[in-house]
Amino acid sequence: MPAGPSPRQTQSMSESSSVPRYAVLGNPVAHSRSPFIHEAFARQCGLPMRYERVLSPLDAFEATVRRFAAEGGRGANITMPFKFQVPALAARCSARAVLAGAANVLKFDADGWSADNTDGIGLVRDIQQGAGVALAGRRVLLLGAGGAGAGALGPLVEARPARVVVANRSVGKAEALVARHAAWARQHGVSLRAADLDVDGTFDIVVNATSTSVQGAGVPVSARVRAPGALALDMMYGAAALPFLHWAQAAGANARDGLGMLVEQAAEAFFIFHGVMPAAAPVLEALRAQLDAEARGVAA
Ligand code: ATR
Repeated sequence: MPAGPSPRQTQSMSESSSVPRYAVLGNPVAHSRSPFIHEAFARQCGLPMRYERVLSPLDAFEATVRRFAAEGGRGANITMPFKFQVPALAARCSARAVLAGAANVLKFDADGWSADNTDGIGLVRDIQQGAGVALAGRRVLLLGAGGAGAGALGPLVEARPARVVVANRSVGKAEALVARHAAWARQHGVSLRAADLDVDGTFDIVVNATSTSVQGAGVPVSARVRAPGALALDMMYGAAALPFLHWAQAAGANARDGLGMLVEQAAEAFFIFHGVMPAAAPVLEALRAQLDAEARGVAA
C-alpha cells in the first residue's frame, strides 16, 4: 500500500490546470498501457487531456475514486481487481455492464456517475474488424467463466453467432453465467450452453478468457475443438499469451493475442468520455512496436 496522503503515482494535484483529467485506477497499475493508448487517441483527435495512473489501495477503492472525481477527474478506466465494485458506485449502468456484473469505465457526470463495460465490445470489434472474422452464424467457444469471460459474453451474443459454448473448469460457474445470459441469447437467436473443459464439438472461433496463460499453464482444452482455419484468440498479450498462440499456430489456426482487444476497449471508453471515436489500428500498431522493442530490451 502506498505511503503518504494520496495514492496517486503521477503528477501532483497542486498543479492547477484546466486540461480535463482522466485516469486508470487499479492495483497494480504501473504496468497499465491505458495512458499510452488514451494519450495517442487524444493526439489523433486533437483533444487536450491529461491521463494518469492511480494506484488504489485494495481496501479503499471507493474512497480513491471519490477523491479523484472530487479533485476534478472527468472519468476513469477501472482495471483489476476492482471491476466488480464499479456498478454499485454508479447512478446509471449500461445493459452490457449489468449483464457482465462488472464495469471498466466510470464517467463522472454532474447529474450522477455512469458505468459501462467496454471489454466485450472491444473483443467483438477486434475479432470482426481487427482479425476480419465475422461472428454472425459462427460457432464460438468461450473458455473461462471468470471476470474476463463474463465481460465478453453479452457483446459476443449480440453479434449473433449461431452457437456459443462457455466452457469452464468449474462447470457451475459456466452454468451460472449462461443462465444470466439466457434471455439475451434467446433475444438474439443464439444457442448458448455451458460445458466443462472436456467440451464436444468443433468451433470457428475459440477465445481464451481463462487465466491459464498467466500461470504458465497449458491450454485447457483439447486441440480437436478447433475447426480447420479457426480463429484462436487469447485475451492476454506479450509473453503471457505465447503458450496459447503456439497451441493455435501448431494446428494452423489463425492465432491472435489480446492487444487488439485492449486497444478497442479503450477506443470505446474514449468515445464514452469524449464523444469521438478514435481509429484503433494506428494505435495498436504503435503499441505493438513498443512492446516488441521492450521485449528486445530496446527503448521505444
Ligand atoms: P479473470 O478476471 O481474469 O477472468 P478470474 O475471475 O479469477 O480471473 O477467472 C479465472 C478463470 O480462469 C476462471 O474461468 C478459472 O476457472 P475456474 O472458474 O474453474 O476457477 C480459469 N482458470 C484458472 N486457472 C485454470 C486452470 N489451471 N485450468 C483451467 N481453467 C483455469
